[in-house]
Formats: sequence, C-alpha cells, structure tokens
Amino acid sequence: MKPTTAAELRSMFLKFFQDKGHAVISSASLIPENDPTVLFTTAGMHPLVPYLLGAKHPAGVRLTDVQKCVRTGDIDDVGDFSHLTFFEMLGNWSLGDYFKKEMIPWSWEFLTSPEYLGLPKEKLAFSAFAGDENCPRDEESAQLWRDCGVADDRIFFLPKENNWWGPAGLTGPCGPDSEMFIITDREPCGPDCSPACSCGRYLEIWNDVFMQYNKTSEGTFEPLAKKNVDTGMGLERTICVLTGKKSVYDTDLFANILGKIAELSGKQYGESPAITKAFRIVADHMRTATFILGDDHSVAPSNVGQGYVLRRLIRRAVRYGMDLNLPEGFTGEIAKVIVAQYRSVYPELERNAAFALEQLSLEESRFAKTLTQGNREFDKIVQKMEGTQIDGESAFHLYDTYGFPVEMTVELAKENGLSVDMAGYEECFKKHQENSHAGAEQVFKGGLADHGEQTARLHTATHLLHAALRRTLGNEVAQKGSNITAERLRFDFSFGRKMTPEEIVKVEQLVNDYIAAAAPITCVETTVEAAKAEGAIGLFESKYGEKVKMYTMGPYSKEICGGPHADNTAELVSFKIQKEESSSAGVRRIKAVIGAKAN
Ligand code: ALA
Repeated sequence: MKPTTAAELRSMFLKFFQDKGHAVISSASLIPENDPTVLFTTAGMHPLVPYLLGAKHPAGVRLTDVQKCVRTGDIDDVGDFSHLTFFEMLGNWSLGDYFKKEMIPWSWEFLTSPEYLGLPKEKLAFSAFAGDENCPRDEESAQLWRDCGVADDRIFFLPKENNWWGPAGLTGPCGPDSEMFIITDREPCGPDCSPACSCGRYLEIWNDVFMQYNKTSEGTFEPLAKKNVDTGMGLERTICVLTGKKSVYDTDLFANILGKIAELSGKQYGESPAITKAFRIVADHMRTATFILGDDHSVAPSNVGQGYVLRRLIRRAVRYGMDLNLPEGFTGEIAKVIVAQYRSVYPELERNAAFALEQLSLEESRFAKTLTQGNREFDKIVQKMEGTQIDGESAFHLYDTYGFPVEMTVELAKENGLSVDMAGYEECFKKHQENSHAGAEQVFKGGLADHGEQTARLHTATHLLHAALRRTLGNEVAQKGSNITAERLRFDFSFGRKMTPEEIVKVEQLVNDYIAAAAPITCVETTVEAAKAEGAIGLFESKYGEKVKMYTMGPYSKEICGGPHADNTAELVSFKIQKEESSSAGVRRIKAVIGAKAN
C-alpha cells in the first residue's frame, strides 16, 4: 500500500531491498571522516566510496540505507517549494554484484506496484545516457525500461550533463545513470520539453547510477574492476509527490516544525508569500543546524569549514525569525521539536541535544551582539557618506566584519531614504569568495578523498593517539571528530581542560613507543556487541547486529572503524604533536604529523 508518511516510505524502501537480499546499514555521520575535500556528506554513496572502489564491506555486497545529507549549494533558493539544505536519501547498492538487468525491473516494481508506491505508469518518464567518447549510448537501460512496458516517447536519451553521475568531487567512482521522473500537471514548455529542462514538468524522484568508471586525477576514465549500482531517492520529495502536496514543506516531516514556528510567532504559515518564505527558511535552516549540531562528529559554529556553514544557517534562521517576530531563544525551542521528531530514526540527536541547545543559544546571543555593533557602524557610514547611495564596499564591510546581512543594510538604508549599490556589493562579495570563507563552500567542488597510503597512515596515527590520550588522561576521553589532510591529522576529543606540557610530551612519547614496537595491525569483521565485549572503542552508531570492522593495533588499540589502515604501526615512522587547543566547550583539539616514509 502506498505510503502516507515519510516514516512509512523509509521502512517500505528498506524492507523492499531487504527482501531482495540487502543488508540494512546505518546512516553515516553528516561530517565525512578522513575526507578533507568535502564539508558534508552529500549522497548515500559518499561514505561508501572505499567500497565502491573495491574494498570489502563487512555487511556484504548488497546494501541499503537512509543517509542524512547536507547540500548548501542552493541555500539562496530555500524558501521555494522544493529546495532544502538537509534531506534524507534512500539508497541501495550493489558492490560488484547485480547490475542493470536486476536494478531497472526492481525500480519499476517499487515505483508502480500497488504493493509499493503504486504510481500510475502514464505519469512516469525515464532517461538514459546518450553516449559520448568515453562511454557508449545506454541502449541496454532503455531496452530494460521498454521490457517493463514503458513507451518510447517516455524514454529520453540525454547527454553527460544530465545523465552521468559523479564523481562526487574531481576523482572517484562514476558512471552513466538512468533517472526516474514524475510527469506533473504542468504543460510541456515547448516541442523539445524533456526531463533535461527546468520548466518543472518533469520532477526527478530516483536515480539509478551504473558505476563503471573511476575518474582519475588526470581526468581519464578507468573501468572499475567490478561494476556497481548506486541509487538515490529523495525522501522529502518522494513523499511530497505521493501525498499530492504542493511543496516539501507541506509534508508530515515539517508539520510539527511549522506548527512550533506558528505557535511562537503568532503568525500563520501561508498568510502571505513573504511569511511563507520566512517560515520555510527558518524550518529548513533549523533542521539542518540541528542535524549538524546533533551529529556524533558535530562541530560548533565558527568562521571556518563546517562551522562556518553552520553559523550561516543559524544566523540566517535568526534573521528570518526576526521578520516573524520570533522571540529570543526560539532556535532552541524549534531544535527541541526536531530532536523529538527524529530521535527514533537518528538517536544521536538526543545524545547530543544538550550540546546542540547550548550552541544555539550561544550563537543567537553572539549574533544579537553583532547586530547591535553593525547598527552602530551603519550610522557611522551614513554620517560620513555623500549623496544617497551607500557604496558596495561599505555594505560589504558591514557584512564581512559585523556579519551584517546585506538585506538588513538595504532595509535600514530604505528607512533612511537611502539606497545601496548592490552591483558594487556583489563585486566585493565575489572577489572575497575567491579567496576566503567561501572556500568552505568550494570544497564541495573538490575531489573525493585520497584514500591513499598517506591517509591510511595518518588514520592509523589517529587511533594510536586516541589510545595514548585515554591512557594518559583517563577514559573520559572520547573521539568527537577527526579530519585528515595530506599533511596532518586533526583529532577532537572530549576533555574538560587544557593539557599540561608534561601530558602532551607523555602522549607523544606513548605513540612513538607504539610505533617503535612495530605492532601488526589486524582487522576482523564482527558485530558491535562482540566488539564492545572485547573492549573495542569507537562510535557505536551502528544498529544492533550489524556487521562492523574492528581494527586491533598490537596490545594498544582496538577500535570499530571503517578503515583503511597501515599494516604495521612501524609504517608511521614517528609522531609529533604540533598543537593542542580548545575546539569548543569541553572539547580539545590536537593537530599532529607523522614521519615521511622511506621508499
Ligand atoms: N549518488 C546518486 C545521487 O546522488 C544516486 O543522485
């Protein structure tokens, strides 16, 4: 029976693939580990890259999950009917197992069978890759859709810009895809109307990627040793279509959140276009911020990387909250609703709720202070200026130095009978984007992680550091985050005070002892329960009974972890702590390097 709620759709999707031999795995963290080139997990395939490239997954060759995803590239479009910065992706994978001839009929079955989504066949359209110099036209997929009963005029062959997925960055697994669309009531925009145009007639709901290539850093496409399937279905969008709603915000996923905003503001969602937009932006940004703060690898608002994106989301929510007259402290009230709604699917939200609420409250007050200072600075600018237009550089200065959103500058200017040189502002903004904060956003366009030897060695050093910290400072030390670049590791851990110089020397010495001992590193596949029973540490975010990898490094360290790692601690050569500093309340951060490997 057709699902009527997002929860029903989640469980129906997982059950469908479970019945076809897939292991249900847990959503990975929103903050990718050991991948310095992206800020957030943007697709279900992302945490699975090593396995798509050939590593063995402990749960087998058929996987399915619901993955938390954040994409902030379209943040300025949030507020319309479909854009979201956080969403859940339903996905299934074949790791070198089945391919097109199984996947396409399964997609058809799930979409059209009355037992599942029961979508009317005449409302569906499909695309297949038109072919280019790297990869032939995908006649096979088209024929498989025809075999299901799809008419030729519902199959569109489209070029690479539409029908190729990945790599997620510059390098990594990729291939031609076949997308599935709902045909909406909108009339065709012209004789060439197709799923490739953005007129809104065709709404994509699912994507079957047939991963056959690894794009190398030289830009060539190497055939993968084993062909994979990677699919992704947007939960919010699909439940919206199935329940006949006009917007993703009208689905059951947003009912409580919008309800809380209405209660706190005294305003009605839908009252006016401007109010609707503000409700949606507050709801979307608060959902994303709560999921980032509530992640086991969460970050605090800051001026760099993920923390900067988080800060932007919270401040944007607060600013639109002002348009709705939301009271001070509203971010925490909305976050509580989000935690309550999602905790059964994502229990980490509840585990990290105290941290999330504290950070939201801190950021709200910091922003309030910024706005007061910005107002003062605005008055100064007005006193000094000539004419009636505030120049772009001043508007940018207000934004850049005081976090003063340009829309507020425009509003204040209007109240004072002035205008703002927006073109000049945009120019300053672009210039700045090229070399600063926005670099954070641009990481999205970077390549996939180098899962190479250097990363593996630094990752191994992270485990040894974790073990040495616990031995020196006690078992209250637990990993809060990890980030590895080609040069260094960064490790965040819970600990209430600054480490003393003696403690730092001791930890460094312990790790060097572990390296000198040349201990072998082994990996076994086991269940979380069995690993815990053996004293393994690590993030126990997996579900009961799920298979995980447990890495043992001599007698020193035992951790649940996806790997990969060095084969012997001696491969690390040496270990040096470069910095120990505060990361956020109750969390310390260490940056460290290892010795170069002699070849
Ligand atoms: N990785 C594919 C996507 O994100 C399924 O669309």
